[in-house]
Amino acid sequence: MIQLNVDIQDLNSFGLPCKVAGYCQVGSIEALDKACHDPKFQNKPRLILGGGSNLLLATDFPGLVIQPAWSGIKIIEHDIDSVTIKIGAAEPWHKLVTWSVDNHYFGLENLASIPGWCGAAPMQNIGAYGAELSDACLAVGYINLDTLVQHTLAAKECLFGYRTSIFKTQPAQNWLITDITLRLLRDGELKLDYPGVTEMLDQQKVQQPSPAQVAAAITRIRQHKLPDPAMLGNAGSFFKNPVISGDTANALLAQYPELPHWPIDDQVKLSAAWLIEQCGWKGRRQGAVGVHQNHALVLVHYGNGNGQQLLQLAGNIQQDVNQRFGIDLQPEPKVIQV
Ligand code: EPU
Repeated sequence: MIQLNVDIQDLNSFGLPCKVAGYCQVGSIEALDKACHDPKFQNKPRLILGGGSNLLLATDFPGLVIQPAWSGIKIIEHDIDSVTIKIGAAEPWHKLVTWSVDNHYFGLENLASIPGWCGAAPMQNIGAYGAELSDACLAVGYINLDTLVQHTLAAKECLFGYRTSIFKTQPAQNWLITDITLRLLRDGELKLDYPGVTEMLDQQKVQQPSPAQVAAAITRIRQHKLPDPAMLGNAGSFFKNPVISGDTANALLAQYPELPHWPIDDQVKLSAAWLIEQCGWKGRRQGAVGVHQNHALVLVHYGNGNGQQLLQLAGNIQQDVNQRFGIDLQPEPKVIQV
């Protein structure tokens, strides 16, 4: 069941070519056991691949790529206020949001149209339009590939933060997420205060929106700003919005009062898109890769390029932003370089 010498260009949303020594899909501990003990791949690196939408494949990969196949959306508990659902890692995230709003549940509507699979959602605690996965997440199930033991982490053990979680840390590198458990509300308050959301609902003449209408409005906003990976290779936001101390932010804001920023605990989050745009990168092309014309945070691959070219572009942007503003931008996608 392990396929040898596979190009996973179609399995990453940047559409980058990448030859991998082995590739398999697994949906059970038994299948994982076999794959992990295959003699051809002992002491070789492993890569766990979900929907491939938050990944920069910078080189070919001499190891084993494992794609989880756990699927299904199951209601495991319900009461008068809420339902608890368990979702397999291989379910596309937007399919889950559609299921949720079609069933009139509240909680996931602001996260509509985020590419990728449910199993990857806890990794960087996906977030958009004022909501994050962690607002609804109760638990995450994973298998430790070293021991093949299955575990469940309660949400607070997942150490969720802005675009981060325990799953991005070193000990979790050999964990394969199999499922997530979420709590959705039968009724709730919609979060409409992110800039542009109420304007879009007004434009659509929606007065008392349902979760489905909020999800539809957010999908439209995203379609205006973010390129569809099926048409133009990209991984959404390529850099995290930098979070800096209040003092550093005040000094910067005194010089650049128009810099968009948001308080986050006792720190300040800055708009990376704005910093990049000020450095003249928005819409700029560098060979087969470039910065999208509608959103400066989105790096794109026009085709026939490679991961090294994207890394080079990212490095040039980081250098310019650092020179001009003294801020270090950190990539958001996982960079695979062996
Ligand atoms: N802005 C610019 N130039 C641009 C784009 C935006 O100056 O080219 C400024 C705008 O003025 C705006 C501010 O940046 O005030 C924020 O822009 P936006 O609402 O697009 O949000 P973002 O902070 O750039 C984040 C997420 C997105 C998410 C949006 C909406 C990160 C790294 N990115 O982007 O997530 O969709 O908020 O909530 O936090 C992703 O992670 O892949 C992603 C697309």
